[in-house]
Amino acid sequence: GTPLRDLAAAKGKVIGTAVTGSKLTGTYGDIAGGQFNSLTPGNAMKWGSVEPTRGSFDWAEADQIVAFAQAHNQQVRGHTLVWHSQNPSWLTDGTWTTAELSGLLQDHITTEVTRYKGKLAAWDVVNEPFNEDGTYRSTLWYNGLGADYIAQALTWAHAADPSAKLYINDYNVEGVNAKSTALYNLVKSLKARGVPIDGVGLQAHLILGQVPGTLQQNIQRFADLGVDVAVTELDIRMQLPSDSTELAQQAADYKAVLDACVAVTRCHGVTVWGFTDSDSWIPDVFSGYGAATPYDENYAPKPAYDAIAASLGGG
Ligand code: G3I
Repeated sequence: GTPLRDLAAAKGKVIGTAVTGSKLTGTYGDIAGGQFNSLTPGNAMKWGSVEPTRGSFDWAEADQIVAFAQAHNQQVRGHTLVWHSQNPSWLTDGTWTTAELSGLLQDHITTEVTRYKGKLAAWDVVNEPFNEDGTYRSTLWYNGLGADYIAQALTWAHAADPSAKLYINDYNVEGVNAKSTALYNLVKSLKARGVPIDGVGLQAHLILGQVPGTLQQNIQRFADLGVDVAVTELDIRMQLPSDSTELAQQAADYKAVLDACVAVTRCHGVTVWGFTDSDSWIPDVFSGYGAATPYDENYAPKPAYDAIAASLGGG
């Protein structure tokens, strides 16, 4: 059939996948390069990956993924500049004054965004800032710098690469709920202040049969604020072993997510968080769950793959 990336391009959408740099050869590389028009490094651009020792940088995997994307005419989503997780231990174990912490964050953002200036379509600048009830998550950044760390991070990122679209990314914000409403109110106030915010990322780590009924409405309300929306980390997990009924339900769920994005002009596209069940975080974190991606562990397309194609107008 027609590759997903060609179907998506014909609709003006992006279909992406998270990737692991060391796997980008053979069949994995063929699918990553052939089916998708956007890549997100799953881990390679996180602070703990790029600066494991203070002042000593390792850009190898991130550079490799960007080069692969350029060779395959793909966009790259940078992921992620400011998070509470996967930070280097020298940072999290240190004791910092407010000024030191602010300086460290500014330097980190400036260094990394400058390195890839002009090469990335978008950055997930701030990742997972909210609790489920819509209050700010207690993190190194919130506790040390206050809620305005978000505006500062966006401002620093924009100064380093004015052409990259800057996003705030979170999970459990796919439907209309307390957490997505907090994100909505934040984006509204950032826009009112003139802070550079271009989009929101809905991670969409979903459970079989539980696509929120308000997904499209939620995407639309962000679009109506004047920002783009991207589904950034889609996967749909189920209890193992999977059977054909569950795989059919999963296909319907994938189609519902793609359909919602296709229906809203300002929805930039959908990225899956790993395209194969052999490269998915789910079994490591949710014991007994898996089969969350559109290809099985042997790179055979599942019904979910056909559902994505169908939503993008494929046969
Ligand atoms: O690199 C080491 C390797 O040297 C070691 O042998 C191995 C042993 O466990 O661990 C490897 O590191 C793992 C890393 O993934 C790379 O595979 C970490 O243990 C593991 O914790 C890490 O998990 C990542 C997770 O973020 C951490 O929270 C997942 O791959 C990654 O897919 C996941 O992605 C996040 C997004 O960034 C944000 N949204 C949620 C999403 C899922 O957690």
